[in-house]
Amino acid sequence: MSTAQNLKSELQILQGTLGSQVQKSSTLEQLDDIRHNALGKKGQLTQILKGLGNVSPDERKEIGALANSLKDEILALIDKREKELGEQYYASLTETEWIDTTIPPAPFPRSFYAGERAGHLHPVTLVQRRLEQIFTSMGFSVLDGPEVESDFYNFEALNFTEDHPAREMQDTFYTENGNLLRTHTSPVQVRAMQKLEAPFRVVVPGRVFRYEELDASHEHTFNQMEGMVIDRNVSVSHLLHLMQTLLAEIFERHVEVRLRPGYFPFVEPGFELDMQCLICGGDGCPVCKKTGWVEVLPCGLVHPNVIRAGGLDPAEFQGAAFGLGLTRLAMLKYGIEDIRHLQNAKVEFIEQFN
Ligand code: DAH
Repeated sequence: MSTAQNLKSELQILQGTLGSQVQKSSTLEQLDDIRHNALGKKGQLTQILKGLGNVSPDERKEIGALANSLKDEILALIDKREKELGEQYYASLTETEWIDTTIPPAPFPRSFYAGERAGHLHPVTLVQRRLEQIFTSMGFSVLDGPEVESDFYNFEALNFTEDHPAREMQDTFYTENGNLLRTHTSPVQVRAMQKLEAPFRVVVPGRVFRYEELDASHEHTFNQMEGMVIDRNVSVSHLLHLMQTLLAEIFERHVEVRLRPGYFPFVEPGFELDMQCLICGGDGCPVCKKTGWVEVLPCGLVHPNVIRAGGLDPAEFQGAAFGLGLTRLAMLKYGIEDIRHLQNAKVEFIEQFN
C-alpha cells in the first residue's frame, strides 16, 4: 500500500471511530474531550497529517481536502450531539428539579424574622425590660449615659477623691486622653441631677467595665441598673420599700431582705441589701455560701457632696440610690452558673431563654 493510501485509510478509520464516539457520548464534557483529542493541536488528525511530507503534491491536495471534510463532518456531528444532550438535560430538569408547592416550608432560623417573631432576647435584656416596666409603672424614667466617661463623672463628682482607695477596687480601661470605660452606672446620677428638674426618679440600665481576672463570677463587661430618687424628705424607709417591691416583682414572690452597712463614697449611710436565698429558702446552700442570704443590691442615701456636684442644695433635696447588678440578677433568676456564658456568642445558650 502506498503512503497516500495508508493515510487515506487512517483518515477513514478515524472518521469511523470519532463518529461512533460522538454518538455514544452522554455529557458535554465527553464531547469536549473528543474534540480536543481528535482535532486539537496535538490531536489524532494532526498526527496523521504528519505523513503528508512523504506524498506527492497531487496526493497531498487530495488528502488535505479529505482531512478538511473529515474535520467539518466531525464538528457538525459534535454540534448536533451537543444540542441533543442540551435538550435532554433541560427535559430532565422537569423530573429532577420540580417543586411541590404544597409542602409547608421548613422553619426559618429565628434571626430571619423581624418584629414579633425576631430572635431571642438575651437573659440580661429580659431582666432589664422587666425592671424597666416595673419602674416606669412607679413613675420612673429610663435614662441612658455614655459608656466612655470622664474621670469627673465616674469618680470625682461621686465623692471619690483622687487617691481614694475605692478607685483601686474599680480599676478599668483608660483612653489616651484620660477618659475611661465607666466602672458603674452611678455617673449618670450626677448627669441626671444636672439635666432634669428636681424632684425626679430615674433608672439607668447599662454596660459597665472593670479590669478583672475572669472567672465564673467575674467579667470585664457586665450590666448594672442604677436607680435614683431625688425628692424632699427622702429616707431609708423609702429606699427599703423600693428595693423590696422591685425584688418581689422580679422574682414573682415575696422576698425577705436585710440591710447591712456598706461603704461607697457617694452614699451616706450606705448599705448592702441582701435577700434571703431563693434556692434554699434561707437554710444555707452553695449558692448563698451556706449563709442563707445573697448580696444583691448596694444602696444608700445620696451623699450631700454628690447632691451638690449635681447642682442641687442638700438642705432642700435628698436622694436614695441603688446599683443593681443586672447580670447578677439574671444569673440568679435563670440559674446561670457561669457569668462567661452571658457574653458568649453561642446560639445554644441563648436559645434556652425563649
Ligand atoms: N456603683 C456601685 C458599684 O458599682 C454600686 C452602688 C452602690 C450604686 C451604692 C449606688 C449606691 O447607687 O447607692 O459598685
